[in-house]
Amino acid sequence: MTVRSCLTVVLAAGEGTRMRSLRAKVLHAVAGRPLVAHVLAAVQATGGRVAVVVGPGADAVTAAVKAVAPDADVFVQAERRGTAHAVLAARAALEQGADDILVVFADTPLIRPETLAALRAPLAAGAAVSVLGFRPADPTGYGRLVTDGDDLFAIREEKDASAEERAIRLCNAGLMGLSGAHALALLDRIGDANAKREFYLTDAVALARESGFRAAVTEAIDDSEVLGVNTQAQLAEVGAVLQQRLRGALLDAGVTMAAPETVHLCFDTTIAHDVTIEPYVVFGPGVSVEEGAVIKAFSHLEGARVGRGALVGPYARLRPGAVLEADVHIGNFVEIKAATVETGAKANHLSYIGDARIGAKANVGAGTITCNYDGVLKHKTDIGAGAFIGSNSSLVAPVKIGDGAYVGSGSVITTDVPADGLAVARGRQTVKQGWAARWRAIASVKKKS
Ligand code: UD1
Ligand code: MG
Repeated sequence: MTVRSCLTVVLAAGEGTRMRSLRAKVLHAVAGRPLVAHVLAAVQATGGRVAVVVGPGADAVTAAVKAVAPDADVFVQAERRGTAHAVLAARAALEQGADDILVVFADTPLIRPETLAALRAPLAAGAAVSVLGFRPADPTGYGRLVTDGDDLFAIREEKDASAEERAIRLCNAGLMGLSGAHALALLDRIGDANAKREFYLTDAVALARESGFRAAVTEAIDDSEVLGVNTQAQLAEVGAVLQQRLRGALLDAGVTMAAPETVHLCFDTTIAHDVTIEPYVVFGPGVSVEEGAVIKAFSHLEGARVGRGALVGPYARLRPGAVLEADVHIGNFVEIKAATVETGAKANHLSYIGDARIGAKANVGAGTITCNYDGVLKHKTDIGAGAFIGSNSSLVAPVKIGDGAYVGSGSVITTDVPADGLAVARGRQTVKQGWAARWRAIASVKKKS
């Protein structure tokens, strides 16, 4: 069997008025990345060339597209005159030719590569048009599929449908496959003689039939896949479906979560088997967790690596660049940023560790702060292996604490501490015998007078 070439045209020129947001609709994010990036990931898994159609002035959309699909060709649809008009904005890409042309919407982020492949199958079998059908609980607003058995005759947009056609439950999910051999000829014949005066992509079905070609319907296995985003409520709904998918995949892979519905994941969260995630943990982008680690409740992680057997939280915050090696303990109200915490080191309570290295088995006492910022520049703190930092110390960077050194509790450390040395940098304690009793006696006399 020869491999059929494919061009996918992603329509992203929508205005997204109903989002009531200054940001372009397809840049709103679910599970840590924009809608359009989710769609492009599914499209890339399908293979072939990619063309994205954006609205005028959509530089931010173009940038988001290029970030995930640098090879994609971006076209601008100057005026918004319907889905067929949008596809034709990518005429130059269509003219280069492909066996299969897929049209997908950038605001439908749950689409799976398997479904895109299923949509292409009828094209390989000779159909000129292939449509993804589904049966929504409420078909209002969707194009209805006019069929006889497996035979698809036309797609009727709701505004143009007769009462009889409106009663049809099988609807157009919006995704379409077109045979590359006929795509341009069909698209160029589409007119705008309809209720919305738009060039409807869906008219390709009836036109193909008129020319004696076949049109096919593939029913979506999972209706949630074709959920589109037009409002903030739908964005949240799609996000919730995605979270369920991501959690399900982790549970299948051997991750323990007592309350998975409270754990928020990102598209790229990587968690090994035998990791335990307690309730209410939030993962931002770029987190990986290795075997046997435990992430305790209410922790927030982003851009971080958690090594084997590490304990994190409850209430820990790992920010970008946090690298915890094996068996590290990071406890409650500890924030780690751009810092490597080496094997077996501990910072269990109320600390800020930023721009630092903490050597193996070092112990960072409660309330320790790396003072990494001088108002202009960031500086590094380097703590040696086995060092002991007494509670409530401030380490004013740049500064080095040698291997095995001690820092006395409450110190403000501004110069390097040699290996195995002790640094104490705080006011010396003075004790006045009997002072409190004398003071109370004086004070009680004053109070009476
Ligand atoms: C479309 C389908 C309808 C289907 C529904 C599924 C057509 C004519 N109708 O209707 O059968 O049931 O999707 O959700 O295709 N777009 C552009 N430029 C345009 C017009 C649209 O880029 O000029 C983009 C939109 O941003 C959106 C997509 O194409 O991502 C679909 O457009 P939309 O106006 O939402 O079409 P529907 O009326 O929902
Ligand atoms: Mg729509």
